Amino acid sequence: GDRNDGGMMHGNGGMGREGTVELAASNEPNQRLPIPEPLRPDRVTDEALYYTVRIERGEHRFFNQGVSTETLGYNGNLLGPMIELPAGKTVYINTINQLDEPTSFHWHGLVIPGAEDGGPHQSIAPGEQRQVRLDIDQEPGTLWFHPHPMGATAEQVYLGLAGLLYVTDQTETGLPNEYGVDDIPLIVQDRLFTADGQLDYDRQMNIDGTVGDTLIANGAINTTFDVTTNTLRVRLVNGSNARNLDFSLSNGEAFTQIATDGGLLDRPVSLETLTLTPSERADILIDFSDLSLGDDLALQADGIPFTTFTARDHIEQDGDWTEAFTEAPVANESSEADRRLTLFGMGNMVTIDGKQFDPDRIDINVRQGSTEVWEIYNREDMMGGMTHPFHVHGVQFRILERDGKPPPDNERGWKDTVAVAPGEKVNIEMTFRETGTFMYHCHILEHEENGMMGQLKVD
Ligand code: C2O
Ligand code: CU
Ligand code: CU
Repeated sequence: GDRNDGGMMHGNGGMGREGTVELAASNEPNQRLPIPEPLRPDRVTDEALYYTVRIERGEHRFFNQGVSTETLGYNGNLLGPMIELPAGKTVYINTINQLDEPTSFHWHGLVIPGAEDGGPHQSIAPGEQRQVRLDIDQEPGTLWFHPHPMGATAEQVYLGLAGLLYVTDQTETGLPNEYGVDDIPLIVQDRLFTADGQLDYDRQMNIDGTVGDTLIANGAINTTFDVTTNTLRVRLVNGSNARNLDFSLSNGEAFTQIATDGGLLDRPVSLETLTLTPSERADILIDFSDLSLGDDLALQADGIPFTTFTARDHIEQDGDWTEAFTEAPVANESSEADRRLTLFGMGNMVTIDGKQFDPDRIDINVRQGSTEVWEIYNREDMMGGMTHPFHVHGVQFRILERDGKPPPDNERGWKDTVAVAPGEKVNIEMTFRETGTFMYHCHILEHEENGMMGQLKVD
């Protein structure tokens, strides 16, 4: 089907679709869903937390039988820990590169100065370390971190480098928030394994984005989770290199989206299907109160189940989560665009405003503190085109309009990535609070690497 091809929306058969890979259910036996460990700070003071994160090579057993797969991980073999970033605190992270190639640590979704952002200019050489300082001042939300070195971002993420950042705030009341119990993260990714169980990036690589047939959740195939409460909060991260994922429940029932990339929605939204493009996140609540004990309910992507929840208990949770939404909705009012950006092309010929990335060129200059509306236009070509997930570093933005109309209810929250369909114009509004040089790019990682990226300078 059209949705299973890693982002191609209007493809007219044949051209560009050769080699696309469909998602398939895996025969692997069920296993418990791994929950990333919360990272223990090395030190905590009244104002600050100190963490250490190292990038290392590892081996991971994806399969019940046989092989270990060569992987990359943060403080471990695959993916990384969950790092809590309390709002109002300063967080120092000592980042260490134990690979034999350069990398960088990018804090996707954090509103921080360009110098700490970990883009391609902040490469860390093999064996080197660097301390970053992150002053946490934004809404609580589910963010993530991943590498961003020139030319190797897509491969390093594919091999396992992605971790969770939770911006937290004491004032977030009523919502399920017991980590690993009624509040769980799900980093969902598609991967393609070689016959001998390896993630051979060079062989799998596809210029329009590497897609796989096997879904992994928190790094594991066919996972299970025991639910003990009436309401489960799931923090979904599409950590795929290129594939859009349409999430739904196996019983066809609705779930409730409560948060977007950078914080809570203005209002909770009931949905039967939710599409996330690469790097988009959503917190959802799933209601288990009508399930009998022992009953299963699976979360699926593009109709393929990947995590099965079993109702084990119906513990009443404290608080009423609807109370987290007492504030009046923020109006996403339309206003004239200050800038217009055009996304164009496919494969190696991907551009923003007709240009490919040049690390020595600043494409956009803005003043610190200014608020701008950008119109992002995905210009189609004869082949139709692809959806591009457009991401801006160092800000959270609001979506004002999609083709002149207000965005759907579940996009009325803080965003750092927005899907732009072929032919579509999306207006976003953001305030540039921090100074420095920031990237904006398509978050299909192979497009970003093929040059679909520009630089924004705030001063
Ligand atoms: Cu996930 Cu340049 O970002
Ligand atoms: Cu980013
Ligand atoms: Cu793209």
